[in-house]
Parts: sequence; structure tokens; C-alpha cells
Amino acid sequence: MNKISAAITAVGAYVPEYVLTNKILETMVDTNDEWITSRTGIKERRILKDEGKGTSYLAIQAAKDLMSKKNLDPLEIDMVIVATATPDMPVASTAVYTASQIGATNAFAYDLTAACSSFLYGMSTASSYIESGRYKKVLLIGADKMSSIIDYTDRATCIIFGDGAGAVLFEPNEEGYGLQDELLRSDGIGREFLKIDAGGSILPPSHETVDNKQHYVFQDGRTVFKFAVSNMADVSEKIMNRNHLTGDDVDFLIAHQANKRIIDATAKRMELDEDKVLINIHRYGNTTSATLPLLMSDYENQLKKGDNIVFAAFGGGFTWGSIYLTWAYDS
Ligand code: UT7
Repeated sequence: MNKISAAITAVGAYVPEYVLTNKILETMVDTNDEWITSRTGIKERRILKDEGKGTSYLAIQAAKDLMSKKNLDPLEIDMVIVATATPDMPVASTAVYTASQIGATNAFAYDLTAACSSFLYGMSTASSYIESGRYKKVLLIGADKMSSIIDYTDRATCIIFGDGAGAVLFEPNEEGYGLQDELLRSDGIGREFLKIDAGGSILPPSHETVDNKQHYVFQDGRTVFKFAVSNMADVSEKIMNRNHLTGDDVDFLIAHQANKRIIDATAKRMELDEDKVLINIHRYGNTTSATLPLLMSDYENQLKKGDNIVFAAFGGGFTWGSIYLTWAYDS
């Protein structure tokens, strides 16, 4: 019997309707469209405005999109992973609720959290379950309602993040398509530079933490930028080298959409032509766990069976990594 590899066999996505443009942000904080566009590549982002709706709402819509495109019976799903930095609640998994709401009542489910690398790490986790031979259909969803943890008076963060979700289905493949190699890394040095101080076990919520705005994302952007540029490019180059891939062999780079300049630096190190670098940061900003599946969804029509794709991400923690995957279907 051939070795089982873990392939992506379907994609779905969802972004909320409300569009927060750079022009609108100009009325909220001291910033301007020219600065945001030239420093980040972002033009607009989507925000989930509806009261009472959290990350699970985004995840459920993305999963439903995938299931209707694939004509997938939810009862066939073995497992649901929700990669997220903004779970509905600290306790009571978002993935469990999502699985129940989409009718995946035969599945077990849990959340996976590694800041902006959550989905990339989730690809590794989902693939390992498939490769073990014990599970046949693993639904991996990347979903974040970043607007729930952003201070819209802080121009250092509010211009960057947006809300959204994407989903992929992993299934066994006996032709050898799917995840080929991975290089995942982390370093606790990053904890000081990108974090939410309060609300966890070190600093539980109090009137004081709310008054001090310690439940919002803090980012030392310049430091994070430096680590992101060098580390994301390093792992992407390494995974190419050890799989004997040149820039000509790689069909697409699907990189975390945090800053267009970080993506460009990675693509340059990989010696990739511009048309191989998938971009949608201008439309959604940084949706944290949703950036990679949103790219797959937006560009699904261009992806062909056998395409060599390098995925890369960098996020808080620090967490980062690269995955080499071959695409398994023509859409
Ligand atoms: O996804 C998780 C990982 N996160 C990332 O990868 C994000 C990494 N960091 C970045 O993308 C960038 O650092 C930012 C986009 C956050 C900031 O860009 P930057 O080029 O690093 O700007 P900076 O922080 O060095 O600030 C440059 C100048 C400063 O003014 P002075 O000191 O030079 O006078 C800032 O005060 O730009 C000013 N500035 C702004 N101006 C207009 C900072 N934010 C803004 C703003 N609008 N929103």
C-alpha cells in the first residue's frame, strides 16, 4: 500500500460585510491612506459588527461555504480544529460549538492557538491525524474576530487587523499529493513584543486592567517586523533547499498577510516572480488565523493539481514556520 499523505481537498471562506477603509480610519485616529498603504499594503479590512456574534460565527460561515461547495455531509467529518487567537470564550472551545452548529456531530473538536501562526501549525496537526491513518476527514478552520481585541484609538494596531475566516478539508491521498514537509519554530523572546497583558492567569481581569486598556493587543511593530522579515524568509528558503526546489519550481507562495513588505522580502529570498506571490492584504488586512485559508479561497481557481506551494507565517510568541504542500485538485 502507498504511504498516505494528507491533502487539501476543499476550501471555504467568509468575511463580514462591513468594510473599514483607510479613509474611515483617518477619521478615527491620526493616520492617512498614503501611510497605511505604503507601510503595509492594506487598503481596507472587514469587521464583524453584529452584537453577540463572535469568532464561531465566522468559523461556522466558512465551514458552511466549504461544505456546500464540496457537497460534504457533516456527519462524515471526524475532527474539527479551529485555529484562533480570539476564541468565543476562554473556556468552552470555539471548535466544539462550531462542530455542533454545522452538524458535525460525529467529530471531536478543539481550538489551536499560536497567534498568527495558528493556521500553519494547524495544517501540521490536521495532516498528522490524517497520516496516522486513524481519521479520514479533518476540517481545519482559521477564524479571528480581531476587532474584539483591538483598541480603535491606537493607530499602531487598529490600521492592521481585520476579521475573517477560512476553512480547508484534509483527506488521505494515495497519489502522494498534499503536505510534503514542514519547518515549524517558536521562541519565547517574542512575548514582550506582541501580546495582550491582561485577562489570562498572570493578570486576571479587574477594573484596573480595563481602565489601563490591558485587554487590547499591544505590538512593538518595529521589533516584530525585524523578526518577521528574517525568520519567515529563513524558513521558506530552508524548506526549499532541503526539498531541492528553486524559485522556478515553486508555483505559489501563500504567506501570512501581516505586511506587504514582509511578504516581498520572503519572496525575494525565495527568488520568486511577483505573479507567484498570492496577495489579498489590501482587501482584508491581517486576519491572523484566517490569512492563509482566505488566500486559498480567493485564488482557488488558479491552483492546479500538482502545483508546488510554499506556505509561510510569522506571529506572536514568537511563532513561525513554513510548509511545503502539493495541491491535490483542479477546481
Ligand atoms: O501578524 C503578526 C505579526 N505582526 C507583524 O508582522 C507586524 C510587523 N510590523 C509592521 O508591520 C510594522 O512595524 C507596522 C506596520 C506596524 C509599522 O510600520 P513601521 O514602518 O515599522 O513604522 P514605525 O512603527 O517604525 O513608525 C514609523 C513612524 C513613526 O513616526 P516617527 O517616530 O518616525 O515620527 C510612527 O509614530 O510612523 C508613525 N506611525 C504612523 N503614522 C501614521 C505609526 N503608526 C502610524 C499610523 N499612521 N497608523
